[in-house]
Amino acid sequence: MSEPTREPGFVSLVGAGPGDPDLLTVKAARRLAEADLVLYDALVSPSMLDLAPRAQRFFVGKRARKKAMAQETIHWLIIRAARRGRKVVRLKCGDPFVFGRGGEEALALARAGIAFEVVPGVSSAVAAPALAGIPVTHRGLASGFVVVSGHSEGAYATILERLTPHSLTVVVLMGLAHRSAVASFLIKQGWSPRTPVAVLRAASTPEAETWSGTLAELAVPPELSGEDGDAPGTLVIGEVVTVAAQLAQTVLPDAAVAVTRRSF
Ligand SMILES: C[S@@+](CC[C@H](N)C(=O)[O-])C[C@H]1O[C@@H](n2cnc3c(N)ncnc32)[C@H](O)[C@@H]1O
Repeated sequence: MSEPTREPGFVSLVGAGPGDPDLLTVKAARRLAEADLVLYDALVSPSMLDLAPRAQRFFVGKRARKKAMAQETIHWLIIRAARRGRKVVRLKCGDPFVFGRGGEEALALARAGIAFEVVPGVSSAVAAPALAGIPVTHRGLASGFVVVSGHSEGAYATILERLTPHSLTVVVLMGLAHRSAVASFLIKQGWSPRTPVAVLRAASTPEAETWSGTLAELAVPPELSGEDGDAPGTLVIGEVVTVAAQLAQTVLPDAAVAVTRRSF
């Protein structure tokens, strides 16, 4: 007797955007609605999972102060589910190919012969500044931007030391805890201590918060508190930050662009 044939599985590597479910793409919402299994990361808002009512859901991200699941284990879980004929959504914050290890997952799937697609997401690298009224490029202020990881000096030094000071907007992801080191590094590279800076936390969520100041203020070592582990943060460095202040003076009081100042 022949084996019953099983529909081949399929994997969607999906970007969830910066947090607000309304910033999911239509395609991402459709994939969630059809999914049998959703493997999601720490910064994915739980309300997005409601969009996947038929799916089993597994958290595979890193919880505060706990070891993250090994990347190879995540590959194995995705591949195993796809081989069992399931529609798998691998849901990552922002865009899956921006500091999300989505490329590694795509390569693992390709090597395993699993059919997959990439569903790009709205990256926090541009969404967090935009939601605070900061255009990452602006005529006369910046004709380009660079996105670096602030995770360690090794991650940003080789890029930032090659930049002519003030030539571009610098966006730093994963740099909240290292903000003073990043700021001191740029000042050492010749950036003016008066360069405008914004720190954007939990953009697009109800906890969203914006701090704006200067590189010199950012370079002051932060007080160590629990805050860094609580919400994701993006740093924006460059003259474009001043656009937010101009907007704040002109927009209606209840407009979505809010600039608040608080000390870290
Ligand atoms: C591992 S990286 C992933 C980036 C993601 N793939 C993207 O395209 O946005 C996580 C970092 O993204 C940034 N981030 C993610 N969500 C954010 C949000 N809602 N507000 C501010 N920054 C955010 C933070 O810098 C955080 O440390």
